[in-house]
Amino acid sequence: MKTQVAIIGAGPSGLLLGHLLCQAGVDCVVVERAAPDYVLGRIRAGVLETVTTDLMTRLGIDARMKAEGLVEAGFNLATNDRLIRIDITALTGKHVTVYGQTELTRDLMDAAPGRGLEIVYEAGDVALHEIEGDSPFVTYVKDGATQRLDCAYIAGCDGFHGPSRKAIPAHAVREFERVYPFGWLGILADVPPCHDELIYANTDAGFALASMRSKTRSRYYIQVPLTDRVEDWSEDLLWDELAARFDPISEHGVTRGRALEMSIAPLRSYVFETMRHGRLFLAGDSAHIVPPTGAKGLNLAASDVAYLSDALVGALKQGDDAGLDGYQAKALARIWKAERFSWSLTKLMHRFPEDGAFEHRMQAAELDYLASSTAMQTAIAENYVGLPL
Ligand code: APR
Ligand code: PHB
Repeated sequence: MKTQVAIIGAGPSGLLLGHLLCQAGVDCVVVERAAPDYVLGRIRAGVLETVTTDLMTRLGIDARMKAEGLVEAGFNLATNDRLIRIDITALTGKHVTVYGQTELTRDLMDAAPGRGLEIVYEAGDVALHEIEGDSPFVTYVKDGATQRLDCAYIAGCDGFHGPSRKAIPAHAVREFERVYPFGWLGILADVPPCHDELIYANTDAGFALASMRSKTRSRYYIQVPLTDRVEDWSEDLLWDELAARFDPISEHGVTRGRALEMSIAPLRSYVFETMRHGRLFLAGDSAHIVPPTGAKGLNLAASDVAYLSDALVGALKQGDDAGLDGYQAKALARIWKAERFSWSLTKLMHRFPEDGAFEHRMQAAELDYLASSTAMQTAIAENYVGLPL
């Protein structure tokens, strides 16, 4: 088989890129290891910047997002007993949209057949070949037979564990990492949210987040030691913790319900600076991870793909390689700023095991300053709503 761009991975990055290329008349095939249901089973942050919603609009795949997404004009940072509202719209003129990543992925998947975007699901042993030469190709096993996909470029959209990043030789690699000494225990339930806007809280018992998927579905998290396993937690115990942290500061208080999902996710900051090697280009989680504080993961994937699709269209339609040559620098400039924001919000809002009373006072002083400083609130709002492309 032959195509112009072989895209590895059908998560948000691969699907968005595939649709953008298709819309521009560039041939591409998406090769995905998992089955569609598995891809839809992953539960991740659901706060969309306008960069992301604008891409969905540009694709004309925004009807459900517009109908069901919640437009949020602000969010909150909190301490034990105090809520500090960041009025995003007053400070930046923009807003964020709460719409689950699962729903966005489903919309992109559902639109694929009608637009002629070919996605090969359940492709085993995906491997990249000849990325340093002029004729790269991808091989995979489908229904027991090995297939070869020849292409002009490969887009590595296969997440943190995929083969694309690993195909880059060690001598070319530049990577940076910070692993945090705690995880987030999350619960999803069909109960109304405790507050109309998100609350990120730094309490004496540790970090907690009150988020939502809709007016009837809530998503909560609390900070837990890395040694905790989800089996160590009962639903009741988790609801008790959430109620203790959010009942004093939220509008409606925590409503309990049966867990649709409970899981623990570790927190990591990671940047793989080699986003281009030969004819391979990385986008999304394959090149970078942010801790979920600030919900930048999906939005960074969207900005990478916006840059990369323009660059690939320039090369393949106009014979102009300037976009491809500039891709890495352009993407990294935005990535590092989002890394900085996610890291600083993580530092401000969590209890680090190595911290003592002094560090806690520093956090309290920063939050107190933030509560009264429009300049600081503006800086946070600008980053939360998303820096311009
Ligand atoms: N072969 C083919 N596909 C693979 C392989 C492989 N060997 N390994 C992984 N994949 C697929 C995964 O099954 C997944 O569907 O690549 C896809 C990667 O998707 P994501 O991990 O969602 O990464 P990305 O599309 O970059 O999305 C970034 O998702 O992970 C969140 O927080 C992140 O919100 C951000 C967004
Ligand atoms: C979520 O709703 O899952 C969510 C929201 C905001 C975050 C992280 C996760 O910063």
